[in-house]
Amino acid sequence: MSKKIFSGVQPTGNLHLGNYLGAIKNFVELNNNKDNQCIFCVVDLHAITVKQDPKELKQNIRETAATFIASGIDPNKSIIFNQSAVSAHAEAAWILSCVSKIGWLNRMTQFKEKAGKDKEKASIGLYSYPVLMAADILLYDSTHVPVGDDQKQHLELCRDIAQKFNNDFNAVNFFKVPEPLIQNKFSRIMSLKDGTKKMSKSDPSDLSRINLTDKKDEIINKIKKAKTDDQLMPESAKNLDSRPEVENLLGIYSSLKNQSLEKSITEFKRKNFSEFKEKLSDIIVDKIEPISKEIKKLLDDKNYLDKILLDGSNKASKIASKKINEIRQLVGF
Ligand code: AMP
Ligand code: TRP
Repeated sequence: MSKKIFSGVQPTGNLHLGNYLGAIKNFVELNNNKDNQCIFCVVDLHAITVKQDPKELKQNIRETAATFIASGIDPNKSIIFNQSAVSAHAEAAWILSCVSKIGWLNRMTQFKEKAGKDKEKASIGLYSYPVLMAADILLYDSTHVPVGDDQKQHLELCRDIAQKFNNDFNAVNFFKVPEPLIQNKFSRIMSLKDGTKKMSKSDPSDLSRINLTDKKDEIINKIKKAKTDDQLMPESAKNLDSRPEVENLLGIYSSLKNQSLEKSITEFKRKNFSEFKEKLSDIIVDKIEPISKEIKKLLDDKNYLDKILLDGSNKASKIASKKINEIRQLVGF
């Protein structure tokens, strides 16, 4: 059966190694399978759930599209577009918000993390963010959604919303209930400065992450400064839980080499960190530097990127407008 793949990335700048290993690397593999129909969306409506500078946002939309292409997604095979260009997303999100329960949204951990201590000051958009995400997915009858581990809860909510809408409007199988595609290994890349915190775009310290636009010397420097401990490299995976930074670096190495954690542990058993860090930098530079160079090249040709996004949004619009019309009928408009 051909899979219908949908995923989104926010154009909020600083795309990093966590985005690449947790999501984009997977997008590229799915794009390369000729049986799949893939849609990769730059989710700019999600981005404005926290304040954005309009000029930077515009640039970040292009940069996210450039990152998709530079990483290996072929715009002739997959649809690449930005969410705000297809108004059905916002419309479907409103309708779906009317079947979603407050109790479901109250359980979302990402909102709690992002809103921080003062929940009263967070935007309503930040709170209803997962409903918009459900609209994105359901408008395209998506069967599979590749994401990093942090989006698992949002996908479960999307499945609940799809089923509730189908039930409420007596429309059996109208919305397809999508399956998450979350890699079982290395699906959560942690900060280089604190192995208990997710690698994140919004971490104030640039040393906490490898950006996909970092140059070779920046990568080497960040790995040199990455937190480890004063023991030797581990002999087995047994006590790695108590050494989260070491586990994370070994995970990054294994994921980039497409090999098991156990194999990497054997490779560096009882060695010094300096030797491991050198090899780790080499492989990150090997994978990331060509992407970083290609992103820069693509960003010099804004017209090309704008054309890809326009073509993509025309194609996406055709699919989404058919579905939103059916939704309107079911609701009684
Ligand atoms: P975002 O930048 O929040 O739009 O995330 C884009 C994609 O990257 C989503 O599928 C996330 O699950 C994934 N992602 C973000 N941060 C990480 C991380 N530290 N480790 C693994 N995946 C991540
Ligand atoms: N919420 C996702 C994130 O922060 C981005 C996203 C928006 C998404 N819409 C989506 C991912 C639809 C998958 C499918 O990473």
